Amino acid sequence: MPALKVPREKAETVKRKLKKLGLYDGKRRPGRDSNFILLPVLDDPRVHKMGYEVLPIELLLRPERQIYKNLESVLAERFTEEELQHLRRYDVIGDIAVIQIPPELEHRVKDIVWGLRKVHPFIKVVAKKGFHEGAFRIRDYSIIWGENRLTTVHKENGVEIKVDLSKVFFNPRMKGERYRLAQLVKDGERILIPFAGVLPYALVIARYRNVKITAVELNEEAYRLGLENIELNRKRLKGGIEFIQGDAFKVLPELPTFDRVISPTPRGVDALALTLDKAQKWLHYYDFVHERKIGEFGGRILEECKRQGKDCRVKIKKVSDFKPHVFKVCADVEIF
Ligand SMILES: C[S@@+](CC[C@H](N)C(=O)[O-])C[C@H]1O[C@@H](n2cnc3c(N)ncnc32)[C@H](O)[C@@H]1O
Repeated sequence: MPALKVPREKAETVKRKLKKLGLYDGKRRPGRDSNFILLPVLDDPRVHKMGYEVLPIELLLRPERQIYKNLESVLAERFTEEELQHLRRYDVIGDIAVIQIPPELEHRVKDIVWGLRKVHPFIKVVAKKGFHEGAFRIRDYSIIWGENRLTTVHKENGVEIKVDLSKVFFNPRMKGERYRLAQLVKDGERILIPFAGVLPYALVIARYRNVKITAVELNEEAYRLGLENIELNRKRLKGGIEFIQGDAFKVLPELPTFDRVISPTPRGVDALALTLDKAQKWLHYYDFVHERKIGEFGGRILEECKRQGKDCRVKIKKVSDFKPHVFKVCADVEIF
């Protein structure tokens, strides 16, 4: 993939323009060349019309893409080009590797396990990943190699997170997003996190900031693990976490308002009115949106602000790709 060589002071503007045109390659990291920034772009004739030099260089993949690439290069000695095309991204959660195996590669499971163990010699379990199911968003996993367990302790952003993948939702790819939010938060804030799971957002924020967090989760297993996670990290946390087990739609109306509300909303659930109502200064609202409907999504949020008599500014950020053209997005809603 090529890169666009842009003077440093223009890099942000050009990057925004490239993103708007769908020409920015978010899988790679920008590079530097003295006073120029090398922006990763797609191999598309339109990049040559941007008015900047196009360099034929391969910028480094972002780390999460890089681990996938490492597996690909290890497997290259055993797999055909066509088989490699079917290889999906995978995650390492604690000492468990989880990977989706498409039907085209079912017969190569043993080799995939071999490759994963070569790239990650410390893993103790390899599990095949199915889809998220039900209100608790638990994935369907089957163990294809190693110890017979789906419990592990995952390390991220300076905290330890105990999970049981057979009973709770956990997404390690939100690591960067959790760090981003922790950096936005100021000491002294009161924060509400409904749909809190085993508390990854709460732990990371409380690790870095002296804040008071109230978290709500319906799944009893996630609640139990969340309490364990508070104990596990007790000495590292600057802030405090109060954890309530219950249905957010019943619990939130009984709670006061908070400086900031973070809603890692389960897919298919509309909690916008509920969570905005509890936010005084900020709401970070996650949802899954088709790229053509991002504007519409922003409009819906502004309408809800108006309905609630709130003066808001909304910025929407793509957080991860979910399926072709559909993204997990975060709406950062500032309330004045
Ligand atoms: C997308 S997951 C996010 C979990 C966690 N915040 C994380 O990022 O790992 C949504 C969570 O909401 C919980 N949930 C679903 N419906 C709920 C409800 N009505 N009230 C409270 N929690 C709920 C699920 O059990 C799940 O843990």
